[in-house]
Amino acid sequence: MGAWSALQAHAKDTARLTLRERFAGDPARGERLAAEGAGWYLDYSKQRVGDDTLRLLLALAGERGVAARIEAMFGGAHVNVTEDRPALHVALRAPFGTRIEVDGRDVVPDVHAVLERMGRFCERVRDGRWTGAGGGRIRHVVNIGIGGSDLGPAMAYIALRRHATRELGVRFVANVDPASLQKALHGLDPAETLFIVCSKSFTTRETLVNARAAREWCTAALGEDAVARHFVAVSTNEQGVRDFGIDPDNMFGFWDWVGGRYSMDSAVGLSTMLAIGPNGFREMLDGFHAMDVHFRDTPFERNLPVLMALLSVWNNNFLGAATQAVISYSQDLQRFPAYLQQLAMESNGKRVTVDGGPVAGHTAPVYWGSTGTNGQHSFFQALHQGTRLVPCDFIGFCRPGGDSPDVARRHDLLMANLFAQGEALAFGTPADLPPHRQCPGNAPSSTLLAETLTPYSLGALVALYEHSVFVQGTIWNIDSFDQWGVELGKQLAATTESELLADAEPALAHDSSTNALIRRYRRERGKP
Ligand code: F6P
Repeated sequence: MGAWSALQAHAKDTARLTLRERFAGDPARGERLAAEGAGWYLDYSKQRVGDDTLRLLLALAGERGVAARIEAMFGGAHVNVTEDRPALHVALRAPFGTRIEVDGRDVVPDVHAVLERMGRFCERVRDGRWTGAGGGRIRHVVNIGIGGSDLGPAMAYIALRRHATRELGVRFVANVDPASLQKALHGLDPAETLFIVCSKSFTTRETLVNARAAREWCTAALGEDAVARHFVAVSTNEQGVRDFGIDPDNMFGFWDWVGGRYSMDSAVGLSTMLAIGPNGFREMLDGFHAMDVHFRDTPFERNLPVLMALLSVWNNNFLGAATQAVISYSQDLQRFPAYLQQLAMESNGKRVTVDGGPVAGHTAPVYWGSTGTNGQHSFFQALHQGTRLVPCDFIGFCRPGGDSPDVARRHDLLMANLFAQGEALAFGTPADLPPHRQCPGNAPSSTLLAETLTPYSLGALVALYEHSVFVQGTIWNIDSFDQWGVELGKQLAATTESELLADAEPALAHDSSTNALIRRYRRERGKP
């Protein structure tokens, strides 16, 4: 019997075994089912697994060739099969002198050359040598980009605010909804504002439309010549950048072997580097790299990304959990779930294998979450007493983000809540309470702890989830690096946009629902 079938049988056999019983039968469980790497401690003892489960999951990883796929990814093989490309985000944080080849070319010197250019630019903006068109200092940065060109940098900016200069404020515009740009520009002085137009392809409609509107806002106040001082680009598409009117001297490049959702540590992180400086950025890359090394070199039974991936597969494919909650007991990680949604669901929301056949079971669980303690006063009721199985990842830090005794005391309260929630979910209430007061327990969770939230620990955390997503994709035999599913909606929006814009009544050939919605919208807008 293969490991998959064995796990199915094992899930049935152990369905009645509760976490309460598992802990009672093994007093060392809480310390035994834990692993450490790159500054992160993972406690997975509150997952519904035993040693036999782990053995089978590790056998599954063996059968699905996880070790070979890890080597293939690190070695620059074209693991992005449908786009025939490597996925080499690990090269973005490789130390100088490491050799990583893409089709015979060592890309590490290219990576470091861009990092150095970014560093020189960021230093000039940060110390005031790079001025606006009128000779004044830049005080505000607006990053215009969407998806991977927004979520990572936006998440990191909030996460690392304590490491950021107070001289610069960074804002983010992603949505093509005019409200997004309006809000970002509110109160800003064009003479003090630098725009980063961030788009791997430089064809993304929302980003280009927002960038054009920003450009009009800037040039209306400062004149056409101001573009050179107030706009820089991050892209792989030099021609697109030129066509937009940004001098390639003001462009920071990356490569098609970096997926958008794996790019926050490339030039896409320019806003992060402006905020925390080149040294802070290097520290973040070192955190990423430390987790890369841990992932590549650590035996699977102690390997954080592999364990997290296998636990996710167990919960999703064998225990039937459709979602994965991620709850950070850190307000500064408030955007982490949104970042993870693209990372996990754009990567693994797939229904065919790399061979083109249908996948055998469910892929990408729905990632969602918020911060603790806020979530406790909202959706946690459903986690404690609802009917669905919702595995949780709890993320917390041991050191308070400040020195005062009061900050430390409040941090203790925050972390007390993290520990209490894991305990309450796992063990529930005594059974002699009235039914409406009973919490059944047996809800699985993992806890991730690091010393403190720094560029280093953030980099390691992101790499942990990146690699966990990759291992899950490998188990399901899917391409975790393409995203063809998003194309259809883009094409339909292009057709529909022209129908909404047309002055004369357009001949509509959609379904009756879409036709009726378009007609109604046009009528409301005073069009035939
Ligand atoms: O539409 C999905 C997507 O292609 C993402 O994969 C990507 O991160 C995002 O759009 C933005 O793309 P770009 O950086 O090319 O503008």
